[in-house]
Amino acid sequence: MEYKAIVLAAGQGKRMNAGKNKQWIELEGMPVIAHTIKVFENDPWCSGIILVGNEREMRLLEEFRQFYGYKKIENIVPGGKERQDSVYEGLKALDDDGLVLIHDGARPFVAEKDIHSLAEKADETGAAVLAVPVKDTIKHIKEGQVTHTMDRSSLWAAQTPQAFRLSVIKKFHTRAAADGWLGTDDASLAEKYGEAVAVVEGDYRNIKLTTADDLLFAKAILRERQEEQ
Ligand code: CTP
Ligand code: MG
Repeated sequence: MEYKAIVLAAGQGKRMNAGKNKQWIELEGMPVIAHTIKVFENDPWCSGIILVGNEREMRLLEEFRQFYGYKKIENIVPGGKERQDSVYEGLKALDDDGLVLIHDGARPFVAEKDIHSLAEKADETGAAVLAVPVKDTIKHIKEGQVTHTMDRSSLWAAQTPQAFRLSVIKKFHTRAAADGWLGTDDASLAEKYGEAVAVVEGDYRNIKLTTADDLLFAKAILRERQEEQ
């Protein structure tokens, strides 16, 4: 099966507090974004990558592409203010109507087998996300008081990639931009505009590097992989 990937790297990484966009933090001698792109460069199903970058980092990203000699990056486009704006810029750079997988550059550990299960599901249904069952008890809180405890059996944490038929997700993004509606992920646009979104169970290791604590887990994952080789 064939798909295109949009890889998002246009954030600022404020919660990471690293003094730079977290995509450039090095893990095992390679920036986070290089770990992420490698997954798609190596996946035979991926026929092209659109890299969405910070407007101020366009030159840096071009140098980065050349340094690693990537073969699949078709285009490096500047992102927008919110993640959703960045996705929209990425979508505008694609014109054929196949499958598109939208992925956070800050999620370097997604497994190829999960990408394949996701792509197969989206090909069948039109829209699918990777997610994992929530492990914690989640409480709804208002003004420092618990209002109620959520039913954990129906709570899943959404990850990326999220996969869609390109024409469908592009239409939803155009509509959301016109409506001024902002969701927290791409599936939420599909949900808002009435498209069913299928769930594929992912892996707890497909973490997003958000705060400094996540780097500890990231290093442990990489160390374990090295030991396996
Ligand atoms: N992203 C993007 N464009 C934005 C905001 C985010 O491309 N305007 C990307 C980030 O680079 C990241 C992914 O979306 O790979 C997930 O977002 P998040 O973890 O929130 O990253 P940041 O926005 O960079 O971090 P923070 O919210 O802590 O500032
Ligand atoms: Mg953010």
